[in-house]
Amino acid sequence: MTVEFDPKRELKIAPSILSADFARLGEEIRDVEEQGADWIHVDPMDGHFVPNLTIGPNVVAAIRPHVKTVMDVHLMISPADTYLEAFAKAGSDILTVHAEAGPHLDRSLQAIRSYGCKAGVALNITTPLSVIEYCLDKIDLILVMTINPGFGGQKFTHSVVDKVAAARKMIGDRPIWLEVDGGVSPETAPLCWNAGADVHVAGSAVFNGGTPEDYKRNMDAIRASCA
Ligand code: DX5
Ligand code: ZN
Repeated sequence: MTVEFDPKRELKIAPSILSADFARLGEEIRDVEEQGADWIHVDPMDGHFVPNLTIGPNVVAAIRPHVKTVMDVHLMISPADTYLEAFAKAGSDILTVHAEAGPHLDRSLQAIRSYGCKAGVALNITTPLSVIEYCLDKIDLILVMTINPGFGGQKFTHSVVDKVAAARKMIGDRPIWLEVDGGVSPETAPLCWNAGADVHVAGSAVFNGGTPEDYKRNMDAIRASCA
């Protein structure tokens, strides 16, 4: 499927399956989508760019048929370019690379679009927005990290809220989603939403409890906190 940008800004929740039951990923995706998830966020990690190892293109391809919404793939791998085609072929709708993952971000973004995916750029906490100033026309999504990537369940970094607001300003009326990832909960989601984020990634705050009823309650709580 292809996901198209809708200029009407609305709050989206993208549960990160890093906090799901890995033995039942298909079911977990179905449950969380039935309970109101807007996108499914997937976190490949290489044990080199971040101090954790998770999944590769084979697993992404295996879960693809279970995703009825949008598969939002956040690559925490370096170098990323070598694997972009494989993750695109695995069925990513949105493919996001870290700005810190290689010296030629512009080339990575062009490659992602050439494979038919929407192109995202993730910025670590200490990376300034200026690194994307000259390639905004090649970007479909900006992911502002609100933790140091690598693990779920970490504490939100409040100092990054100003960067979210600056990113919203930089986007202006361009067709670019603004996503936040890390420590997003009913306490911190309103800070991001009010600063201008639209896509809220949440792992532990959504999958906490482990049943579909919990997922619904957890996502409703995030939405209610931003209303
Ligand atoms: C971490 C990942 C996140 C992670 C978020 O590096 O990018 O997507 O799953 O987990 P929570 O919401 O628990 O902080
Ligand atoms: Zn992520």
